Amino acid sequence: MALNYTFSIIKPDAFNTGKAGKIIAHLESQGFTLKAARVVHMSKKQAEEFYAVHRGRPFFGELVDFMSSAPCMPFVLVKDNAVHALRDAIGATDPAEAAAGTVRKLYAESKGKNAIHASDSDENAVRESRFFFAEADTI
Ligand code: PPS
Repeated sequence: MALNYTFSIIKPDAFNTGKAGKIIAHLESQGFTLKAARVVHMSKKQAEEFYAVHRGRPFFGELVDFMSSAPCMPFVLVKDNAVHALRDAIGATDPAEAAAGTVRKLYAESKGKNAIHASDSDENAVRESRFFFAEADTI
């Protein structure tokens, strides 16, 4: 059975331009419930560890520098089939390709500064949630 929660981050571009509240409200209107949230200014080392799967990709340095440049907001959302539901709700990585009504179409600037991260599998939702939250925060 699919996990009933997923993990997300409101990235620095959206968090530091006052879009967090609007994004959370948008997701709540689609049936997601906020389970845990915090504000974090990641170190470069933390960002490298969080995005370790992308090490070696051409954009890795840019991604790590951006995610450690300013505060962001990691959070956990609950909904049936949460991982798939949130990936649908946020839209394509590149906002130019994101469907109408998705978070990235509404709030993102570019492929790098794209407002929001969402886990892409149940396994990664568990791993990424544990990166920022205690297990009890997700139950
Ligand atoms: S893939 O191939 O599907 O795994 O990669 P993709 O989803 O396209 O991107 C993975 C994450 O890298 C970010 N990204 C970038 N950051 C900075 N600069 C550039 N050019 C860039 N291209 C991709 C992208 O926003 C994804 O971040 P997350 O947080 O995982 O959504």
